[in-house]
Amino acid sequence: MQSVIKTVEWTDEGVVFIDQTKLPTEELYVTCRTYEEVAVAIKDMIVRGAPAIGVAAAMGIALGVRDAKVSTVTELRQVFGAICRTMGETRPTAVNLFWAIRRMQRKFEDLSNMPLAVLKTEMVLEAKRIHLEDIAANQAMGRFGAVLMPSEGGVLTHCNAGALATAGYGTALGVIRAAVESGKNIHVFADETRPFLQGSRLTAWELMKDGIDTTVISDNMAGAMMAQGKIKAVVVGADRIAANGDVANKIGTYTVAVLAKEHGIPFYVAAPWSTIDLETADGSQIPIEQRNPREVTHMAGKQLTPDNVHIENPAFDVTPSRYVTGIITDRGVAKAPYNESLRKLAQIETVSA
Ligand code: MRU
Repeated sequence: MQSVIKTVEWTDEGVVFIDQTKLPTEELYVTCRTYEEVAVAIKDMIVRGAPAIGVAAAMGIALGVRDAKVSTVTELRQVFGAICRTMGETRPTAVNLFWAIRRMQRKFEDLSNMPLAVLKTEMVLEAKRIHLEDIAANQAMGRFGAVLMPSEGGVLTHCNAGALATAGYGTALGVIRAAVESGKNIHVFADETRPFLQGSRLTAWELMKDGIDTTVISDNMAGAMMAQGKIKAVVVGADRIAANGDVANKIGTYTVAVLAKEHGIPFYVAAPWSTIDLETADGSQIPIEQRNPREVTHMAGKQLTPDNVHIENPAFDVTPSRYVTGIITDRGVAKAPYNESLRKLAQIETVSA
């Protein structure tokens, strides 16, 4: 069951995204013809989800480099710096963005003695490699994670950590896909995920496309579903995982993790190595994006709240590692104490396409 959703794609005309702001009712594709357009697509969540943001940024950088009107590598270096800065200012929490920028920067430096045309071509190839590696990482996580899923019953997920949030297949949904492919009889409960509704709009859409049994619940129903015995495991994605195993993910993840612990339900996080940030000691140091209050005050253009009421809209929260049963990566599954297990996995060669 290989999902064929094309979240991010390189074409000669530019970087093509499925417009995630239009799903599930319209399946529209947008072509970003400049790196600035790619940056806007990331900021406006036309493309979203930590690994997909990383791939998009790499492709945006490659596009900017390819089309830079320069005649020397020295001139290109200046433009390249500006392109990377623009990409780095799009969204602050998903570390995959900064991981991808750093990787493109390393490639640029490695090749800076090459002729201009070769450098441009190689930067495009590097972005394409990042894309393929992400799919391979998701498939590896699927293999490691499938065995941890129940042989039958409900699995709860929050936000969208599927093909739409990655180059393909998904992290948390990749684990679910792999479990279903291995013959497990899983029913997915998808939290709707206010305020941007990634669960009800995106997770439900892509799982339905794959024929995986799915029920959407509003976020405040998760506890009741657990108490009724309908949830056997939770699996979510992550935007950044600190060295001690604290997990930044979509707002509401922390609530789900606490509920899971209360009900004795395993809580797994699936994330590729590009999401692990060993330079950040713990979750308190992870920058949390604050988004436009309008996402809370309005839905489908309709105002839901009184004029001038105070609004909070943090896009992410941090789940302390004590709530995390295991972190499923493309290098294997880390268990507490995470400071040790993540550092051990850091020694393993990463999956490559
Ligand atoms: O604000 P978003 O939609 O980019 O947030 C996405 C999430 O929080 C996902 O759960 C996370 O990026 C993991 S995606 C594989």
